[in-house]
Amino acid sequence: MNLDFLTNDFLINDNQFNDPIIVTGAGGCIGSWILAILHRSNIPCVAIDLSEERNRLELLLGKEASKIKWYKCDITDLSSLKKIILSYQPSAIIHLAGLQVPFCAANPALGARVNVEGTINILEIAKDTNIKRTVYASSVAALGMPPKGPWKETLYGAYKLANEHTAFVYWADWNVPSIGIRPNIVYGLARDQGMSSKNTMAIQAAALDKSYKIPYTGKYSWLYAGEAASAFITSVSNDMVGSHVFNLNGSCETIENGLRLIKELKPKSSVTCEGQSLPFPPDLDDFPLRKHIGEYASVSVQNGIEHTLKAFENLRSEGKCPPLSS
Ligand SMILES: NC(=O)c1ccc[n+]([C@@H]2O[C@H](COP(=O)([O-])OP(=O)(O)OC[C@H]3O[C@@H](n4cnc5c(N)ncnc54)[C@H](O)[C@@H]3O)[C@@H](O)[C@H]2O)c1
Repeated sequence: MNLDFLTNDFLINDNQFNDPIIVTGAGGCIGSWILAILHRSNIPCVAIDLSEERNRLELLLGKEASKIKWYKCDITDLSSLKKIILSYQPSAIIHLAGLQVPFCAANPALGARVNVEGTINILEIAKDTNIKRTVYASSVAALGMPPKGPWKETLYGAYKLANEHTAFVYWADWNVPSIGIRPNIVYGLARDQGMSSKNTMAIQAAALDKSYKIPYTGKYSWLYAGEAASAFITSVSNDMVGSHVFNLNGSCETIENGLRLIKELKPKSSVTCEGQSLPFPPDLDDFPLRKHIGEYASVSVQNGIEHTLKAFENLRSEGKCPPLSS
């Protein structure tokens, strides 16, 4: 089965990379999309993750997934991490390894080690090896800090904000340049965990002819996984100067309208929503990021949902659709 239609719109024609790109947290949703796009664009890439599991990448790339060089390494293990990265003399690092909101809440100390110390390790390696293209995943959750603002405070957001300040000091004190991208809420094939993954699950449920209720409503940032991946890749396509942080929103649309689009494509589907809006801003401006890094592919909510539904239906017909998480 071929799901190339998912990544076709994001392929890179101008190869501005002489050496491989390192992707940490490669086994996750955004990492898998980045690896799939890079691999299909013939740009060498090296995956690093705590897990050797490449099931999300296999959803996108099928058997091709086995061709990607993959290292099992804990992001908190500086010496092993450095050894791997040094052996490739990479042109860029895309740092995504991290624990999401519920995992940080369940184990705050581990969350801090992975999310904060892990990012320090990446910046430290960039400093020692003079890498001029480092992008790291912050999050819109950082906007929940300082406390008592309009958005939800979380340990995850506190850790992500700490990373932004850390990156600033690495530039100010040691000339280590970086870009921090604050993705809003990502949806699409392979988005299967985290508190905000339920709209992707609703699309999957529709493909599987199962009923599903999304536990939130209202305005929402529909950031398609391919669009997020494209922004991360574009951000490392040139050498950087300074320490910058940008929001990455995608399209603001209500959950209700998203459900309507699913039902237009699949009239008999039984997907609903209830509850409050998510406590994060749904409509941030992507223009500052696009102005800084250059244009990257955008996807309408309609196309994003259509492609995701079609992908889940194709996987189902081949008996390869992952189980629907609760
Ligand atoms: N998905 C979203 O909506 C979203 C929104 C904002 C920010 N982000 C951030 O973007 C990044 C990627 O998000 P995602 O959705 O792909 O996440 P994900 O949870 O799907 O994947 C994270 C990956 O990090 C790996 N990882 C965890 N601990 C590790 C460790 N100690 N060492 C090495 N690897 C480790 C996991 O095995 C996993 O493959 C994360 O930093 C996340 O916080 C995601």
